[in-house]
Order: sequence, then C-alpha cells, then structure tokens
Amino acid sequence: MSEKVLHPVHKPLQGSLRVPGDKSISHRAIIFGSLAKGKTTISHFLDGEDCLRTIAAFQAMGVSIEQKGRTVTIEGKGIEELKEPNQPIYLGNSGTTARLLLGILAGLPYHFTLYGDDSLSKRPMDRVSIPLTEMGAKIDGRQRGKLLPLSVRGGKLKSIVFETPVKSAQVKSGVLLAGLLAEGITEVTERTTTRDHTENMLLAFGGEITKQQDKISIEGGQQLKGTSIEVPGDISSAAFFLVAAAISSGSDLTITNVGLNPTRTGIIDVLKKMGADLDVVWSQSVGGEAIGSISIKSSSLKATVIEGEIIPRIIDELPIVALLASQAEGQTIIRDAEELRHKETDRIASVVKTLTALGVEIEGTNDGMIITGGATLKGACVDSLGDHRIGMMIAVASLIANSQVTLQNAECIAVSYPNFFSDLEKIIKT
Ligand code: S3P
Repeated sequence: MSEKVLHPVHKPLQGSLRVPGDKSISHRAIIFGSLAKGKTTISHFLDGEDCLRTIAAFQAMGVSIEQKGRTVTIEGKGIEELKEPNQPIYLGNSGTTARLLLGILAGLPYHFTLYGDDSLSKRPMDRVSIPLTEMGAKIDGRQRGKLLPLSVRGGKLKSIVFETPVKSAQVKSGVLLAGLLAEGITEVTERTTTRDHTENMLLAFGGEITKQQDKISIEGGQQLKGTSIEVPGDISSAAFFLVAAAISSGSDLTITNVGLNPTRTGIIDVLKKMGADLDVVWSQSVGGEAIGSISIKSSSLKATVIEGEIIPRIIDELPIVALLASQAEGQTIIRDAEELRHKETDRIASVVKTLTALGVEIEGTNDGMIITGGATLKGACVDSLGDHRIGMMIAVASLIANSQVTLQNAECIAVSYPNFFSDLEKIIKT
C-alpha cells in the first residue's frame, strides 16, 4: 500500500497536455486485433494495468502480442486459431476485460476459468452471463454465476434478440462480441445510448454492424482484417485536469488529441452548464472516433442538475464532477446514476466518504448525490479505497486544500493513468 503526501498547490494550471490513450478504445483494439487476421498496430495505447490484463488474456490464448510502452503490435491469426489457455485467466481490477472477454470465450469450444481482484470479485457478471447462457454458453460461478471466479464452457452459439436491462456499454459489447461468433444475426437494443467504441472499431477492422434507432444488429461469422489504430486521449482522464483547471484560479489549460466521441462528452456539457470558460476544437476523426482539443480557463461556477440521458455519457466522471460541484455556487444534484454503485467501488459511498473527510457537505441518495457548493477543502488522511478515479479525485482536491492531504492506496491510479502525478506536475505553473 503506497501513501502519498500531497501538499496544497494553490497555483494556476497552464500549458498543454496530451493525456494517455482511451481505456475503452485500448481494450477494444487488443480484442479486435486478436480476433482479426493479419497485423494490427496500435499507437498511443494505454499501458495502464487494466489494458495490460486484456493483452495477457489473449496472449494466454496463443495470440502473438508485443507491447513496447504505448505501441502494440498484434500478429492476428483469426478467431479459429485462438487456443485453450493452460491456466486460469487473471482479470485484475478490469470490468471491461471481464465482460467483453466473456462474450468471446462464450463462443470458443474450450473451457476457461476467470478470476479477478477483491473489487472485481464483488461486481455483477450475470448481466452478461445471462444473455450468453441464452446463446448457448455454460457459465457458472459464485452466487449462481453472478460473481467471479467464473467457469466458462464455450461452444457453438445461437444468435439472440436482447434488450440491455442496464445502461451499460460493457453488457452491450459482451453480447455483440458473442454475436460475432454466433450463427445468424444478433440484435441488441439499448434504451439509453452508451459508448459506441465496439461498433466503431468493428467497422475499422472491416466488419459490418448496423444501427437503426436504438437497435444494433451484427451478423455472426464475419472475418476481420488487421489494421492500424491510433488511440485518442482518454476524455475520462482529461476530466481530472479540466476540473483541476476550472477550480484553480488563474488557470489556462489545453488538452490536445483527446477523444470527443459524443457518447463520452457529458463532462463538456456539464462544465459548460456550470459556467466553465471552455473551448472545444474538433479535428478530423480517426478510426470513426472524433478527436480534438479542449481549452479551459478557471471561472466562477454555478450548481446544476445532472440526470437522465446524459448519465452514461459522464458515468466515469461523476466522482470528479462531485468535487467540481463542491466549488460551485448552490446545490448540485446528481440522479439516475444507480450504476455508480457497481463500479470499482460503490462510487456513491466512496465519493461521499472521501469528500466528507475533505470538508464537503455531501449526501448520498439511492441513485446519486446532493453536493453543497462553496466548500473550503481541508487537509485530511484519505484512502482511495483502491479505486483509481477516487484516488485522482482526492489528488485534484489536494491542489486547493487548506493543508496537507495524505492519500492512502495511491498505487491504484496506475489502473488507468500510470503517469498521473508527473503529468499533473508538468502543468502546475512554476
Ligand atoms: C466501459 C463502460 C462503462 C465504464 C467503464 C468502461 C467500456 O461501464 O464505466 O469504465 O469500456 O465499455 P458500464 O458499461 O458497466 O457502464
């Protein structure tokens, strides 16, 4: 367990920064590169622990994957050449690896055992294993197949017509990937749009997928072709610096080459609604993914209500938004975000616990939070609770605290942002 002492900075954030590659897109690039035939090269790959778990899972199935920092090369031989692993597959902290991988393993004629760390072992897998069982896979685990470790006996799958019961891109993607290996056309309907990186990347690998209103259809048996993928910067990582700049007076910061996929840009909408001085410049899309730069200057902020359709577009940013709200004028309400309870930690409970310790008036509700603005942040000893996004939120809070913050369990930040602290240092005005 590593402890980090964070001294208050009270300085502007300035300059420009390129954040590491998008986590969701990095996972999918490894997955599709491993299913495709031919060479795939990935640049600006996120070399965080979660994405390394996805690499290791496919290596265990015999795929040749070479990773050197942020560049990855995959010599894909196609789905038929994937092998049965000799050992159980360790998923670490990564929900995306678990749920997307399950979709593929369900369609392979082998047996697999999957396990994860303490946090992942508490997260629900039945949201994916139920539809996959309906397609023909045999999946079992603790609590009737709800929790890891899971045992998967894959095989021939039949297509299904499925409506996602939760607003989750992981569930949608798990079923679509199984659909790629199934016989016939699989249809997934989602009532609220979630991130569409799986759909975009399938097209980039030469596959076909159609979307009509809220129904996505994929035909099984498609042959994918290796390609080059440039991963955009992760807007979920950028969000920590955008908020840090918004609340540190005198700041003027630009985040370059960042993903601006509209299914992910809820943070931009909320920052604007709260009165942030923000400018977005779009560049040309890469691999079906919008990219550009975001510039932000500090400004006075007002409270808002965050609810409904925007929630999946900002789900991972809600912890840092809660900190932002603590610095706005008025009371901010977040609702319809029950999914926060199923993340790396119960993020409603974790945000309330940590921000309360830092002097914020905040109340958790069943599906969100109520945050009172105008807080003076105080020094404290706070635990990340093993959740990377809670750890980074605490680090941003420390910038404007009135005394030293000690962050316990800081190492979990490497799950999505191994160089977080050195990047932060680069933009603090000296
Ligand atoms: C992700 C989807 C989201 C998100 C997670 C990454 C993905 O989870 O919170 O960090 O890559 O598909 P859910 O699909 O469970 O909402």
